[in-house]
Amino acid sequence: MNHRLKRHIVLIGMMGAGKTAIGSEIARRYGVRFTDIDAEIEAAAAMTISEIFDRDGEEFFRRRETQVLSRILAGPPAIISTGGGAWMRPQNRKLIADSGLSVWLNCDLETLWHRVRQRSTRPLLKTADPKGTLARLIEERYPVYGLADLIFHSQGGDSVEASATRLIAE
Ligand code: S3P
Repeated sequence: MNHRLKRHIVLIGMMGAGKTAIGSEIARRYGVRFTDIDAEIEAAAAMTISEIFDRDGEEFFRRRETQVLSRILAGPPAIISTGGGAWMRPQNRKLIADSGLSVWLNCDLETLWHRVRQRSTRPLLKTADPKGTLARLIEERYPVYGLADLIFHSQGGDSVEASATRLIAE
């Protein structure tokens, strides 16, 4: 089935919340475009996010993130998955609010930790206490994520398919 989106649907939330998995499933089901901002940053730089952090630092990455987000938001309506820190910048929130509907995939610490602990690809979690870092980020970010247009409670036991169905209904 081919649908026309009128505005972007921008998924926000912590790493491991399922933004890419659920976003691409919804896009596939509805035949609409899906864009992952982290993947776009990596493609444009021909480097992984980790390499960008290591070589150029987080601030450089954040500037790239805003540039790429702005470019994608200027394009045709899509389902867009953002990196966990993107929504924390007021400039990015304004860009998103101007052209899309923001959806926070809210997820609890244990579920997030379960999903991200096996993967060492997240530079922010390369700390002596990654679970503690995740908990601190949650504390700092959740009040700001709460500014999203829609809050979706992602449940650990739900499959990607079930989450996609429930999110569409909501
Ligand atoms: C980040 C999350 C990552 C990536 C970068 C920073 C964050 O994306 O953008 O490592 O600040 O939470 P995911 O949320 O897709 O893992």
